[in-house]
Amino acid sequence: MPVDTIAVHENQVKIIDQTLLPLKMEYITIHTIGEMWEAIKVLRIRGAPAIGIAAAFGVFLGVKESRAQDFDTFWKDVEKATDFLASARPTAVNLFWALDRIKKLVQYNREHSISELKKVIFDEAVCMIKEDNAICRTLGEFGADLLNDGDGVLTHCNAGGLATARYGTALAPIYVAKEQGKHITVFSDETRPLLQGARLTAWELHQEGIPVTLICDNMAAAVMAKGWVQAVIVGTDRTAANGDVANKIGTYGVAILAKEHGIPFYVAAPTSSIDMTLSHGDQISIEERAAEEITHGFGLQTAPEGIRVYNPAFDVTPNRYVTGIITEKDVVYPPYSENLKKLF
Ligand code: MRU
Repeated sequence: MPVDTIAVHENQVKIIDQTLLPLKMEYITIHTIGEMWEAIKVLRIRGAPAIGIAAAFGVFLGVKESRAQDFDTFWKDVEKATDFLASARPTAVNLFWALDRIKKLVQYNREHSISELKKVIFDEAVCMIKEDNAICRTLGEFGADLLNDGDGVLTHCNAGGLATARYGTALAPIYVAKEQGKHITVFSDETRPLLQGARLTAWELHQEGIPVTLICDNMAAAVMAKGWVQAVIVGTDRTAANGDVANKIGTYGVAILAKEHGIPFYVAAPTSSIDMTLSHGDQISIEERAAEEITHGFGLQTAPEGIRVYNPAFDVTPNRYVTGIITEKDVVYPPYSENLKKLF
């Protein structure tokens, strides 16, 4: 993807405000931890890896004005900041992974001065951007090997550059395949209710000159039946140790459709999105969001006033539908409990 999702200029943290896309590509400066929490909550920045990196910068913003003179007081500020940021969204494990990483780092450096510790946190967040780029790139190379010239790939939601620091996870194999000279066509589910597929995936692929056809979520079966899709690749917010995959609501349905049509269903998952502490997907906490996202999508009322609504942001695809999990270390195949353990 041609732009950075999170950009750092002279110690200022800027993010692309994804709620404005595709109409406007605009960076906003995030000045405080409260602004970062809000940005994550309302999906100005979203997608599991990007949320993790944003949270790391959020910790820095939360402690940068700390007046603590000793480590114990500073540690309390760090814990306050990490607890607050952890409450922004529950499903993407990268959020908790990044906060944990910062906490461990601060403890490891406890002998340093408070101002040094603040710098350590900032530098780590910057390092996460670079690391994420490298991880997505390698993951993309593994994924591109699974694609043939002329393939159609269906994806759901946005697990592209906008969901990470730059390359994306599910879209990385497509970007790398393009570099290799393969012609890949993408079918992007629009992804109700917040339209990440239409607003973000279609936008970023179009920017990159990759042929993309936008479809409504309920058209995926028809497109598969026509023989236009040779692989499905999606991202994940949290994958359990047995290979059950939490991803954007609707992913489970796509996986069932893929199986019915004999199409491989791949999950692009950096290891930071794999939660080895959870044995099964039913242990993953699934975010439920406001009813208005469905009844008043983008400000237009499309349902009766006061109607009861169920709005889970994610679902869990059972591992039996998952052909392979593409990570930055290797592509993992079933049995996942055994093979993910080996990978880690
Ligand atoms: O609610 P969102 O937009 O944060 O959901 C994003 C997804 O479901 C992505 O597929 C997932 O985070 C993987 S991003 C590489």
